Amino acid sequence: MKNRKIIVANWKMNPKTDLEARTLFAATKRSAKICKKIDVVVCPPVLYAPFFKKTDSKNLFLGAQNIFWEQGGSYTGEVSAEMVSDIGASFAIIGHSERRAFGETDAMVSKKVLAALRSKITVILCIGEKERDASGAYYEFLKNQIRTSLFGVKGNSVKNILIAYEPVWAIGKSFKDAMKPAELYEMTIFIKKVFADLFGADVAHALQILYGGSVNFENAKSIVTEGQVDGFIIGRESVDPENFKKLLTVVNAI
Ligand code: PGA
Repeated sequence: MKNRKIIVANWKMNPKTDLEARTLFAATKRSAKICKKIDVVVCPPVLYAPFFKKTDSKNLFLGAQNIFWEQGGSYTGEVSAEMVSDIGASFAIIGHSERRAFGETDAMVSKKVLAALRSKITVILCIGEKERDASGAYYEFLKNQIRTSLFGVKGNSVKNILIAYEPVWAIGKSFKDAMKPAELYEMTIFIKKVFADLFGADVAHALQILYGGSVNFENAKSIVTEGQVDGFIIGRESVDPENFKKLLTVVNAI
């Protein structure tokens, strides 16, 4: 059976007030409700998470933007997988490049992945090269990033991991500078090959890959169909209710 497309709304450190967050949740919920063929995962700043009311929305889920690997204790500023699970989150973005830029390493990422899996949270594992070079060193970079970010993960847990391929050079850019679908298709094949080598062909075959980096309602269709990805992780456009609705509608119609 064909997988449902997944759209992850990464609100990042937005919006500025709780009133705006409530309004944005309500708009996102209305949009998800009319797009029944896709699943939407909203990842707000964690302090807005309690405003998220799942109620009757079967295709709308709550996610965290980050978690810490310990279960509790003296870790100022951190939030555990158990805590986000307890407030209703069923997904967590792990290893976003904006966190890696502040020093999050692959070793830290792998501990977070294991902590999320332990709490039955679906991992949205972000990977992606910073730049592209003519010699193709980014292939090796990605291979290592996948291998070390998944250190200690068993093959039978990979079904609870989504890969979010977000080339860093394509994040937060002009929408025309999103990755070209043909290049993305090539990368999905490469990522699956790395998974096949690590966990076997069946695991690789079942792997779901999302793309992130300057996606909007205009480029979404060609990226998802020609790039052959299972959905998106959306930054800016996820906090613009009108454009996000258009984007969901486009993907829902595919
Ligand atoms: P963008 O961000 O859609 O604003 O490029 C994507 C992301 O960082 O997840």
